[in-house]
Formats: sequence, structure tokens, C-alpha cells
Amino acid sequence: MSSSARIAALALAGCLLTGPASASGHGVLYYGYGTTPTARQIAGWAIAVRPDGQGLPPGKGSVSHGGDLFQTFCAACHGTFGEGEGRYPKLAGNDPLTGNQPRPTVGSYWPYATTLFDYINRAMPFPSPHVLKPDQVYAVTAYILNLNNIVAASFVADATTLPKVKMPNRHGFIWADPRPDTHDTECMNDCLKPDQVKITSTAEGKGITPRTTGPLDTSMPQ
Ligand code: HEC
Repeated sequence: MSSSARIAALALAGCLLTGPASASGHGVLYYGYGTTPTARQIAGWAIAVRPDGQGLPPGKGSVSHGGDLFQTFCAACHGTFGEGEGRYPKLAGNDPLTGNQPRPTVGSYWPYATTLFDYINRAMPFPSPHVLKPDQVYAVTAYILNLNNIVAASFVADATTLPKVKMPNRHGFIWADPRPDTHDTECMNDCLKPDQVKITSTAEGKGITPRTTGPLDTSMPQ
């Protein structure tokens, strides 16, 4: 046994403790690792912003301030006007979503301005996420919306204005899963034993899954 494996084994043996009895009288087992996160630590991770704007932080940012920030933090990859450098994503432009090569942009694709804030806040700038303060994220969000002709140059993004922005593709997403499902009630007792279960039909040939092609595909009838 390597010394690191031995330490790990000792740690496991030593740390499985019996905790205080729960209300039902059973002992609670837990590992003696870690500490309870503080409210501040949890707040650092709980940054999700929902489509209706829930979770948007205090602060605000204008289109013009966003333009300056965009040049510094974003333009190297996304282009000065969101046109995209090289193969980095294009953020603005009039590309339609239809056709053989749809090129989604923020304007043509994103359903909510609020989740645009969320995405930038958690993931951009790509090499160093989380460096921007809420005011700055609001500002670049406003700038990108303006590049897409969705808001005026005088727009100021904040927790009140962003949820009201109507994105062109708001209704372009299908939320209901159109694929067939079973609607049986789950059996909780006296259920069939696994060896009594007979498969009477499969999805094959019903056009539910896309036909795969190529030499290795033997699963679909030709
Ligand atoms: C080093 C290059 C780089 C920089 C700098 C950068 N991004 Fe990005 N950005 C990317 C890449 C790569 C993706 C695609 C990531 C993915 O799909 O996982 C992306 C995706 C995005 C998207 C989503 C595009 C879409 O329609 O799906 C937005 C919005 C965005 N970036 C905004 C910003 C903003 C705002 C900044 C500046 C604060 C920024 N980015 C800085 C590389 C960069």
C-alpha cells in the first residue's frame, strides 16, 4: 500500500463517526470532514439569476459605460461591435436563425436579458470570470443589448429594467418535451419481478430517435 493510500484509508477509518441521534431515534452517520459553510460563503455561490429577474443584484450600468468596458474586457474575442473575432462567438448582427447555417447571436437567440446578465456574470470574460462587479456586468449587458438594437443608447440596465426587456426570440423555445413518455403510476409494492418483465415494443423504427448512419450502425433496420 502506498503511503498516500494508507493515509487515506486511516482517514476514512477514523472519520466515520456516529452523530447525535435523530428525531426518529436512528443514529446519523457522518464523515468528520469540512465545516458548515457560512452565509457569506453560500452567497458567493448563489449567484443564479432567473428569467423573471429574481436574483439580480443591486447596481446599474449604462450602454456607454458598457462600451468602454467591452473594449477592455471583451472585444479581443467578441470584436468591438460584437461581430466576433476569428472563431469566437458573434454577439450581435442580423443573422437569421433559419437557413442551412443559422448563426445564433444574443439578439436572434437569447430569450431573456436577465439570463444574459447571469451568463456574463458567471462565465465572462472567458479567461477570468467573476472579475467584473455587478455595475460592470449590468453595463456590458446593456451595451450588448444596444448592439443588437434591442434597447436605446440611453438604456440603463438594472434589476427593474432588465426583466422588462422583450427579447426577439422570447417565444422561440419549446418548453414542453414533445417526445412520447409513459404515464404509468410508479409501482411501490407487489410489483412485477424483473424476470417477469417482457419487452413488447421498442423505439426502433418509430422515427423517435434520429437514424444513425455509418458502418458501425447495426441497430436500425436499413
Ligand atoms: C478570451 C476570449 C473571450 C473573452 C475575453 C470574452 N469572451 Fe465571451 N465568450 C468566449 C467564448 C469562447 C464563448 C463561448 C463559450 C461557450 O460556448 O462555452 C463566449 C461566449 C459569450 C457569450 C454567449 C454567446 C452566445 O450567444 O452563446 C456572451 C454573451 C459573452 N461571451 C460575453 C462576453 C463579455 C460581456 C465579455 C467581456 C466582459 C466576454 N464575453 C469576454 C470568449 C471570450
